[in-house]
Amino acid sequence: TVHTATCTAPVNIATLKYWGKRDKSLNLPTNSSISVTLSQDDLRTLTSAAASADFQEDQLWLNGALESLDSPRTKACLADLRALRAAVESADASLPKLSQYHLHIVSENNFPTAAGLASSAAGFAALVSAIASLYELPQDMSELSKIARKGSGSACRSLFGGFVAWEMGALEDGLDSKAVEVAPLAHWPTMKAAILVVSDDKKDTPSTTGMQSTVATSDLFQHRIHEVVPKRFEEMKKAIVNKDFETFGELTMKDSNSFHAVCLDSYPPIFYLNDTSKKIIKLVHKLNELEGHIIAAYTFDAGPNAVIYYDEANEAKVLGTLHKYFAQVQGWDKKDASALNGGVD
Ligand code: DP6
Repeated sequence: TVHTATCTAPVNIATLKYWGKRDKSLNLPTNSSISVTLSQDDLRTLTSAAASADFQEDQLWLNGALESLDSPRTKACLADLRALRAAVESADASLPKLSQYHLHIVSENNFPTAAGLASSAAGFAALVSAIASLYELPQDMSELSKIARKGSGSACRSLFGGFVAWEMGALEDGLDSKAVEVAPLAHWPTMKAAILVVSDDKKDTPSTTGMQSTVATSDLFQHRIHEVVPKRFEEMKKAIVNKDFETFGELTMKDSNSFHAVCLDSYPPIFYLNDTSKKIIKLVHKLNELEGHIIAAYTFDAGPNAVIYYDEANEAKVLGTLHKYFAQVQGWDKKDASALNGGVD
């Protein structure tokens, strides 16, 4: 017999950024973070896991290609899940010994990896969900988030839909460093996100390397993690609960800028934004200024692509403005990136 389970996990985009680790092997962060999960219809990873006494080794297929399972991150996730299953099996001798079987895992993204969107968050979240479901472990998402976190820090937030906080925790073993729900998607269903693909290059400093360098070399970083983020974390949660777009938008833009500032303050400096990213930033501020209040908010991760948050009520205005200046808002074609080089002033 082959036992199987299938799960999906969404992509999440941080509005308060995780940047810096206090423990590299456990992915324990130097600050708490907040994210918004994108709709599963648009961006998600679908993962199936199978266990059988007939399988000869653990195997993983990612978007159709066989991938190595040697990375310590994947191994840490599998070891935790097997240990939990083994505990259940030892309490109930009638259960099949799935913890002792090899696993075959098949994982597919419904968006191109080349789009420059971090796929590791949805990937590890879907991997952990699928195996937890196969092993019939309790569906406690905060518990499972601690396992996904070991795969990739930001993955812990993809166990939940909607608005999610990753509480950094204080313990050395990471048992209190977990994701919790701030509000479900249904709480604020008019919140929308547009992704502006500026470049699909993969030449940026990987986030793990980048954050290690920032922690080691940036003075500004100390100010960010001690003075800025703790206060912003509380304010942003409140803005979400109150559906206060103005405050949410302002905090989101400020935090993106703060994150890119500590990247620039790293030595040698790390640059993720390019000229097109900067034009998008200017355009959003111009639009908000003309409106007299904040109707759109940008955020950028470890690359030049923008995510723009807005309320559905302002969709025509926000997307209209972006269209006007940047020819094409959505789409994955490389030609779109060159169309984005039009002037904004
Ligand atoms: C800028 O979660 O990819 O997107 O824990 O090393 O896998 P690892 O890093 P990762 O870093 C994400 C950084 C970010 C901000 C965020 O998502 O909070």
